[in-house]
Amino acid sequence: MSLPINDPSLILLIGPSGAGKSTFAHAHFRPTEIVSSDDLRAMLTDDAADQDASAEAFHILSLVINGRLKRRLLTVVDATNLRAANRKSYRRLAARYGIPVVAIAFDSAVHEYLSRNAGRPDRVVDDEVVTSQADRMAVALVDLADEGYESVHILRGDEESVEVVVRRRGEASTS
Ligand SMILES: Nc1ncnc2c1ncn2[C@@H]1O[C@H](COP(=O)(O)OP(=O)(O)OP(=O)(O)O)[C@@H](O)[C@H]1O
Ligand SMILES: [Mg+2]
Repeated sequence: MSLPINDPSLILLIGPSGAGKSTFAHAHFRPTEIVSSDDLRAMLTDDAADQDASAEAFHILSLVINGRLKRRLLTVVDATNLRAANRKSYRRLAARYGIPVVAIAFDSAVHEYLSRNAGRPDRVVDDEVVTSQADRMAVALVDLADEGYESVHILRGDEESVEVVVRRRGEASTS
């Protein structure tokens, strides 16, 4: 599956914990293009799961996104992005610089999010948290179509996210 992406774009990855957002980001984008709420929490506290640092992590996330978009650099937001209000604030930031926003949602069954989470080597998120995120994901999947993205891509299942080929289109390109 080919995924055409304007360069620059702001790319919002959307999905519960265990959806495969970070795996996808690192497979398809350069490390400096990816801004991760978990990485920022880890930088602040040595613990990517430390929710006490969330407010500061998201503040820094916005500063980094702003700094990169100002420079017209493609930016990937690796966070669950399950709240409409958060997605809206990122769209506003991108609109300030005329940068298109792309949504990539990772839609799997809740048992897949849970089993991937249980099997991960780094950090396991509580089942109740993942289940409630899956509920919010169902709402997000309905809302995304009307939120005004340049494009919305919904990846379902393992093969699809593995087989994706991201094709970048430069600013001067019209195709
Ligand atoms: N397409 C896939 N097929 C099978 N396993 C996968 C796939 N993508 C990721 N995984 C595995 O699932 C686990 C979680 O993946 P990943 O860390 O990318 O999730 P995440 O969406 O970033 O979660 P979080 O929001 O908690 O950071 C990892 O162990 C990863 O190896
Ligand atoms: Mg992750």
